[in-house]
Amino acid sequence: MTINRRTLLARTAMLAGALALTKQNAIAKALNDTGLKDLYKDDFYIGTAIGNARLNSPPAGFNALVAREFNALTMENDMKWERIHPTPDQWAWERADKFMALGEQQQMFMVGHVLVWHSQTPDWVFNDDHGQPLPRKALLARMKTHIDTLAGRYRGRIHAWDVVNEAVDEDKGWRKSPWFNQIGPDFVEHAFRYARAAAPEAQLLYNDYNMHNPGKRQFVVDMIKRFKEAGVPIDGVGMQGHVGLAYPDIAEFEKSIKAFAATGVAVHITELDVDTLPVAWEHIGAEISSNFDYADELNPYPNGLPAEVEAQLAERYAEWFALFLKHRESIARVTLWGTGDSESWKNNFPVRGRTNYPLLFDRDYQRNAAYHAVAALKK
Ligand code: G3I
Repeated sequence: MTINRRTLLARTAMLAGALALTKQNAIAKALNDTGLKDLYKDDFYIGTAIGNARLNSPPAGFNALVAREFNALTMENDMKWERIHPTPDQWAWERADKFMALGEQQQMFMVGHVLVWHSQTPDWVFNDDHGQPLPRKALLARMKTHIDTLAGRYRGRIHAWDVVNEAVDEDKGWRKSPWFNQIGPDFVEHAFRYARAAAPEAQLLYNDYNMHNPGKRQFVVDMIKRFKEAGVPIDGVGMQGHVGLAYPDIAEFEKSIKAFAATGVAVHITELDVDTLPVAWEHIGAEISSNFDYADELNPYPNGLPAEVEAQLAERYAEWFALFLKHRESIARVTLWGTGDSESWKNNFPVRGRTNYPLLFDRDYQRNAAYHAVAALKK
């Protein structure tokens, strides 16, 4: 039987089409069964933060999605002082224990957030029974008890602790928090020493936002160097990564990754999200406005993200992950600050009640364009 050229070409095209379909199906199937954590398994952990609402009443399929996509887990709020140690004699372990069980079922890299912070810490921590500021020694003792109890309970099970959060005030040096004011700058090194004693196996991190800021970068680098010389146990830096479509300058962020890595510590990207809404500060100054005209202007996509902004978001996420891949030798983990857009703190900060789209899954927990852009870097 002779086959003419046209038939041959048609058959070849059909075969190529069928092969392409098979390949597409194979990718779709692989993505059904696996997730970002698998695509990035040779690079770094991919984490998410979980809030109490999802922990207690997960939407249908939520836990399976988390297990499929992520291999690191942080609690968004419920290991913070005000939640876990609300009064001097009260420890509320239930939610944290549940969080541990969820992550341990999947053998995830478990992150403790956070031992020492100025925010979400009750006033009583800093005061005596008469409401007067505790002196240095007594406040250090209170800090130690807190760290011993919390980090000690999960010893060997939490793999990294955010030991101190946000102790640096941009390029002005130490933040003048009650910890700093009542103890002095060495509260940070004490926290690290207490943490090492309570949880010797855990990686100990200093965690902060706006880490692209050159002044903050230099201050943190100097701090790590001093700590290393003095034998203060610090293992890593957490760069939170609350970024936007147009800020910060990625080149400045990269300089910080390099500078931190050069001190010999691991870099963790701890709280990544990309704000897609107008920058409120530029419209309303530093005051959070409740003015409706301003709110409407600042909340332009209440019913869905326009395709062109979705494309910008995807491109921006791809830029960040390309940067992280470039520095995969220095980066141990990239954690998203939440899973689906409906959960994000960005819906309420710095303006309450907005509709933001900062994460990799939409409000129905479907992978969005940014997810696919991040996945495509590894295909
Ligand atoms: O749980 C209550 C709820 O009962 C109440 O009805 C509601 C009314 O306002 O508030 C709820 O609590 C809120 C809580 O988030 C849970 O949603 C608090 O008001 C709100 O202040 C709290 O915000 C958290 C914020 O830290 C507080 O500083 C965000 O969820 C959390 O994502 C955010 O996380 C921080 C990191 O820990 C450190 N780095 C910065 C990051 C963003 O601020």
